[in-house]
Amino acid sequence: MRILITGGCGFIGSNMARTALAAGHSVRIIDDLSTGYAQNIEGLDVDFQHASILDEGRLNSAMVGIDSVVHLAALGSVPRSVKDPISTHEVNARGTLNVIIAARDNGVGHLSVASSSSVYGLNPALPKGEREWVRAMSPYAVSKLATEQYALAAQQSFGMSTLAFRFFNVFGPQQRAGHVYAAVIPVFLEALKNGLPLPINGDGSNSRDFTYVTTVCAVLLAAAERQVNHAEPVNLAYGTNTSLLDLVRQIGDVTGLEPKIRHLEPRPGDVKHSQAKNDTLVSLFPEILPVPLKDGLSDTYKWFQENP
Ligand SMILES: NC(=O)c1ccc[n+]([C@@H]2O[C@H](COP(=O)([O-])OP(=O)(O)OC[C@H]3O[C@@H](n4cnc5c(N)ncnc54)[C@H](O)[C@@H]3O)[C@@H](O)[C@H]2O)c1
Repeated sequence: MRILITGGCGFIGSNMARTALAAGHSVRIIDDLSTGYAQNIEGLDVDFQHASILDEGRLNSAMVGIDSVVHLAALGSVPRSVKDPISTHEVNARGTLNVIIAARDNGVGHLSVASSSSVYGLNPALPKGEREWVRAMSPYAVSKLATEQYALAAQQSFGMSTLAFRFFNVFGPQQRAGHVYAAVIPVFLEALKNGLPLPINGDGSNSRDFTYVTTVCAVLLAAAERQVNHAEPVNLAYGTNTSLLDLVRQIGDVTGLEPKIRHLEPRPGDVKHSQAKNDTLVSLFPEILPVPLKDGLSDTYKWFQENP
C-alpha cells in the first residue's frame, strides 16, 4: 500500500514512517520542516517532498497514486496558538481542508487525521468520552476541532472513508526538547540527562493520559490497512491518569536517578486534567495493546542518552 504521511518529519510522523516501512508499505512524506527535522527520517527509504500543505499544487502532486493518507502536519502547542492564532488556524484548519480536497480529487481510499484531547477544554468530566461536550480553551484546540470536523464531514459531503483521532499526550523517541513549545516528557528527560531540576508549570497535580508513540502508530497503520471509517471522533489513548508529580516519580524509577523539581507559573490555556474513555478505540482496534508507561519512558530515556 502507498501511504502519504503529512508532517512525516515530525515526532509522530517519523515514527509512523518507520512503522509503515517495517510493515512493507511504501511511504511518501510531505513536510515543510517548520517544526520537524529532516534528520528524523535520515536513512529511511521514503519519497520526501519538501513542501507545505498550504501549497495546493505541491500537495496535489504528492497525492498522486496514494492509497491512504495519515494527516499529521500541523502547528502544535497551545502556547504557540495563543501567541500566533492566525498561523495555527491557517496550517491546522485550512491545511486540513486542502489535504481533504487533494485526497478526494486523487481518489485516495482512506484518510486519518490527528485531532487532540485539547478540544474537551473546559469540560471537567473524567474520563472523557467522545460524546462529551467540547469547549476549546485555545486557538489550537479550535483548529483541531476544525481538523476533525472537516474530516468527518468529508464522509457525508464527498463519500470519503475517514477517521478522526483525538490524540492525548503522545511521547517517545524523536520528540525533542530544547524549544519553547516542547512537550513535558522530553523537557523532563532532557533536564534529567543534563543534571538539571525538572520544570513543572503549576503545582504538579495536573494529570495527563500518556500514550507511547509506537502504540499510536500501530493504531494509525491498522486504520490505513483496514480503511477504517467511523462517523465520530475516536479518542486515541488508553485511559490512564498520571499526575506530573507521579510522572517524575516513574521517571526516577526507570532511570535509577533522583529527579529534583523546579516549579514555574501555570500556563494560560492549559487543561488541568486529561483522561480518555477508550471504548470506541478498543472496539475498533481490539488487537492493539498499549505499551506500558514505564517501558515507553525507559526506551525514550535511552534515545535521549544516545542523541545529544
Ligand atoms: N504529540 C502529541 O502529544 C499530540 C497530541 C495531540 C495531537 N497531536 C497532533 O499530532 C500531529 C503530529 O504531532 P507531532 O507531535 O508529531 O508534532 P511535530 O511538530 O513534531 O510534527 C508536525 C510536523 O508537521 C510539519 N508541518 C507543520 N506545518 C506544515 C505545513 N504547513 N506543511 C507541511 N508540513 C507541516 C512540521 O514540520 C512537523 O514535521 C499534529 O497534528 C498534532 O496537532 C499531537
